Amino acid sequence: MSNPSLLILPGDGIGPEVMAEVRKIIDWFGAKRGLAFDVSEDLVGGAAYDAHGTPLHDDTMARALAVDAVLLGAVGGPKYDNLDFSVKPERGLLRLRKEMDLFSNLRPAQCFDALADFSSLKKDVVAGLDIMIVRELTSGVYFGEPRGIFEEGNERVGVNTQRYTESEIARVAKSAFELAMRRGKKLCSMEKANVMESGILWREVVIEVGKDYPEVELSHMYADNGAMQLVRWPKQFDVIVTDNLFGDLLSDCAAMLTGSLGMLPSASLGAPMANGRPKALYEPVHGSAPDIAGQAKANPIACILSFAMALRYSFDQGAEAARLEAAIQQVLADGVRTADLMGPEGGVPVTTSGMGDAIVKALDASL
Ligand code: NAD
Ligand code: IPM
Ligand code: MN
Repeated sequence: MSNPSLLILPGDGIGPEVMAEVRKIIDWFGAKRGLAFDVSEDLVGGAAYDAHGTPLHDDTMARALAVDAVLLGAVGGPKYDNLDFSVKPERGLLRLRKEMDLFSNLRPAQCFDALADFSSLKKDVVAGLDIMIVRELTSGVYFGEPRGIFEEGNERVGVNTQRYTESEIARVAKSAFELAMRRGKKLCSMEKANVMESGILWREVVIEVGKDYPEVELSHMYADNGAMQLVRWPKQFDVIVTDNLFGDLLSDCAAMLTGSLGMLPSASLGAPMANGRPKALYEPVHGSAPDIAGQAKANPIACILSFAMALRYSFDQGAEAARLEAAIQQVLADGVRTADLMGPEGGVPVTTSGMGDAIVKALDASL
């Protein structure tokens, strides 16, 4: 049997820097655990624009559709800020999500013990936190029509449309209920049914889907209150399901519960392929961090944890994913810190590559 295939798209800014550390981890699993992958690499975002004049070449799109999983670093940066909207780096990522039909975006927020003191929130609010945000990723206001900037009388109007079909809501709700069944059996759905028709439909469909999951305790919250509750007492949540835009905001907010945006991984999953694996793209929640790019300061943990999610959700290697997560716990417990994790209590300062090396060492020690 051939090895499972991985397409790596490092992208822009700190993307290639953190991805280089993931390559070390992939190599380790190949050499030490007999888990070899056929790894190929390609361009996305500004890097693809520089080479091809488009943020995602059609050949790259075709490769992404053909592999078992895609791993992406980050896209974007000030160099590309003034490009035409249609060729901006972010369009490359959005095309991947849409054409791979990755409707269910899993964004876990876990507070590692060693970082509980480091969050901007009080320790008892975040210690032991383990929640999962399920963000709808291929519809809503990100993709709804009509959209554009139009002339209206003597001024322009910017238009985006929030739009959800019942089936789009039902499939992401189902994936969230399935996850809740494997976790703490609690699901909170967030929308704004008080002001948006799409929110009313969202709530109705989630309730309907929930009839197949009587064991899951379902609750509903307006998304603005949800944002407040996330920082007030996040441990009230187990799984949260929400739409594309609210999920974008709420997951950045949840990032701070873990101490740093540099800690938050994600998995974007679609329907199963012929081989039974879900179509999947794994990426950190953070962006290309232009303010620290090229300075060896980026924290690679979010990207490495995204690979752990690939091991779990694409390759049925839950035990090896747990091994990798435990190695990261160990490194943090040892006080190893990239700049974003350096609190008043200090620690052992490392560069991006120093963090990757420390995790490889901890993996070696796990054998
Ligand atoms: P950002 O996530 O790039 O950075 C926000 C802040 O967090 C910055 O101060 C940055 O230094 C810090 N940070 C982020 N990741 C870090 C890491 N791994 N280690 C240490 N610090 C880290 O968000 P932004 O500044 O709003 O956006 C910059 C660019 O990235 C924009 O072009 C945006 O569109 C793009 N972006 C891309 C993605 C993606 O590729 N998935 C996600 C978000 C933003
Ligand atoms: C994210 C990012 C993206 C989004 C951008 C870069 C398209 O913020 O993955 O959270 O808005 O979805
Ligand atoms: Mn975002």
